[in-house]
Amino acid sequence: MDAALSLEQKAALVAGGGFWSTVGVPEAGIPSVVLTDGPHGVRRQTGGDDHLGIGESAPATCFPPAAGIASSWNPDLVERVGRALGEEARAQGVGVLLGPGVNIKRSPLCGRNFEYFSEDPLVSGVLGAAWVRGIQSTGVGASLKHFAVNNQETNRMTVSAEVDERTLREIYLPAFERVVVQEQPWTVMCSYNRINGVAAAENHWLLTELLRDEWGFEGLVVSDWGAVDARVPALAAGLDLEMPGPQADSVQAIVAAVKAGELDEAVLDTAVERVLALAARASGDRAGPDHGADDADLDELDHRIPAAHHVLAREAATESIVLLRNEGAILPLETAQAIAVIGEFARTPRFQGAGSSQVNPTRVDTALDAVSSIAPVEFAPGYSFDRHVDAAPLIAEAVAVARLSDTVLLFVGLPSGDESEGYDRTHLSLPAAQLALIEAVSAANPRTVVVLTNGAVVSLEPWHDSVPAIVEGWLLGQAGGSAVAEVLFGIVEPSGRLAESIPYRLQDTPSYLNFPGENDVVRYGEGVFVGYRYYESVDLPVRYPFGHGLSYTVFALFDLEVSRDGSRASVTVTNTGERPGAHVVQLYVSPAPSEVARPRRELRAFEKVWLEPGASTRVEFELDARAYAHWDTRTSGWVVPGGEYLVEVGHSAHDIALTAPVRRHPPAPGKLTLESRVAEFLAHPVTGPLFARAADGAGADGGINLLDMVASMPMRRLMRFPGVGDAFKRIGPLIAVANNPVVRGVAGWWQRRKRR
Ligand code: BGC
Repeated sequence: MDAALSLEQKAALVAGGGFWSTVGVPEAGIPSVVLTDGPHGVRRQTGGDDHLGIGESAPATCFPPAAGIASSWNPDLVERVGRALGEEARAQGVGVLLGPGVNIKRSPLCGRNFEYFSEDPLVSGVLGAAWVRGIQSTGVGASLKHFAVNNQETNRMTVSAEVDERTLREIYLPAFERVVVQEQPWTVMCSYNRINGVAAAENHWLLTELLRDEWGFEGLVVSDWGAVDARVPALAAGLDLEMPGPQADSVQAIVAAVKAGELDEAVLDTAVERVLALAARASGDRAGPDHGADDADLDELDHRIPAAHHVLAREAATESIVLLRNEGAILPLETAQAIAVIGEFARTPRFQGAGSSQVNPTRVDTALDAVSSIAPVEFAPGYSFDRHVDAAPLIAEAVAVARLSDTVLLFVGLPSGDESEGYDRTHLSLPAAQLALIEAVSAANPRTVVVLTNGAVVSLEPWHDSVPAIVEGWLLGQAGGSAVAEVLFGIVEPSGRLAESIPYRLQDTPSYLNFPGENDVVRYGEGVFVGYRYYESVDLPVRYPFGHGLSYTVFALFDLEVSRDGSRASVTVTNTGERPGAHVVQLYVSPAPSEVARPRRELRAFEKVWLEPGASTRVEFELDARAYAHWDTRTSGWVVPGGEYLVEVGHSAHDIALTAPVRRHPPAPGKLTLESRVAEFLAHPVTGPLFARAADGAGADGGINLLDMVASMPMRRLMRFPGVGDAFKRIGPLIAVANNPVVRGVAGWWQRRKRR
């Protein structure tokens, strides 16, 4: 710690110096760091400050938001996008880019789902890690957000997410954990909400015990903008930097608390050290104390970056598109036909979500221009974004155009006001005028291809069956229009797969009864059964399952092999069709029966492979113990119950092609006490057989299974019963023998041997 810094200076350093920057102390050689949104483009504000995407910002490449790029299931691509983001951030003098967001999509209604990757923690974690790797490889820091359990926008600053620990550990934390452990993001951004009653910003367990002590985080914790309510408790909990700044009240409160002996100055010193470390890192080899962009950087930004990054944005967008349905192989389109393009979105694309992540794009491709450059088209807007415009004449015009064409490309989706940071949706439907348009156009021309624009899942009902092809176009960034055209004409093969399930009805979604909560409390009543984990467990059909996506070719899986201990698996994937293409091989684990309610299957590994027609490749997976484990609340750790698991590989969470059993040995027997349940005595290799015999002696009759009846009783209670208890009482002294380490070791070995 720089001894030259006064208490006041230190207290000032742990809040922002401005809306987007930390405090610089030039006389002490401490540069200020610029932090800027994020995640899918650089939003470097040029005029007034705001954090809701309202004010002007400098032009930057708008890559596909997370909801889009997650469908690529391609960490290499995401890493390249991350690197491009880092390059642009650096050229604009930005030290930290505020992203990625790895929160789980608990409900399709969350207004900010477009900024998050998936309903699955593995997909979120792997892609989030790739994003951070890419950004940080350029010497710019990432900010992993929003830590944690920020899964809705309704009352986001005050709501308490009530989540049990197992659900936290298995669903809401693993993506953060993976990114922290693998990539050490320079910063982690704490969320606005409370978790089990305690604000994330003041949550010592979250910000210190879990993040630092358990996961080994070495960077800086920054608040979400305006997340700090009380600065002193937040500092004590582990929140290093309050944003935005300056915050005179916070400085005063910290100084007063230190002087009054209520806050250990060492806590402040630690936070200051982290701010200084960030400043040193961010200044790196940059020019100038405020690391403003130098001329060479700006020159590069002006010339090389926009063109190359637009091409990368287009590549990313093509991989983000998911071909949901393609009856009669109506796609890819042939150019020698009359094509109608219908829908305002084709002319006026919506390619990113509203709020803090909004980027000012360097250019924008429209699908109408892109399709027209490949084949001649007739266009009709079909609807207007102005809700006061009469829909009927627009629909009539569209129907007339549809009738005269061979194939219709019908662009529909959610208008920008329908989903945004700051509020949630209340339904999954497309606007009524668009539903009427789909009905009329598909009746006029059965060869209608629907292309969707949406940041979060929309209902495909009631029109799904009336069109032969549906293309899920998400929000695709500034090059989305040309990407869609390339996929529609087969210039690029569709290779996206859903990173979230598409349900039939909102009522089917697992959080339906518990979203978004009431009186500032939201109960995560569905527990670990989020997304496909729920649909698969209760056998509830969905319109399209997690992991689904078609190609213009076909893939088959063969020869699944799994090592005896389940730590390695391999499978052959073959392109059996006539076009090249890419497939995402998905590996799930289905649990052994256990007393803990577990999802029917959980994604544990995936890999995207490109194959020429007729070509095959062998995909290898490594599976660690966590692939089989669940969080055990009794021991506060991961356990793998013994029994037979299934390793499953398939094309989606619902379309499993091959399975192989894996037998996992039970963990070494735990120590027995008089508080242990009878069931634990029965499962123990030393006491189990003796107990079974004693129970026989106690005389089970009348069809009653005595052992089942008493299995859940703690031993001490059982021993208090006269009669039946006496038989068990004599076995009490065995506990000492059973707990002897040598006996436990031998017993464990014997147990494993027996099960082989
Ligand atoms: C958002 C963050 C964002 C910050 C700065 C907040 O409202 O939740 O994601 O990084 O503003 O704009």
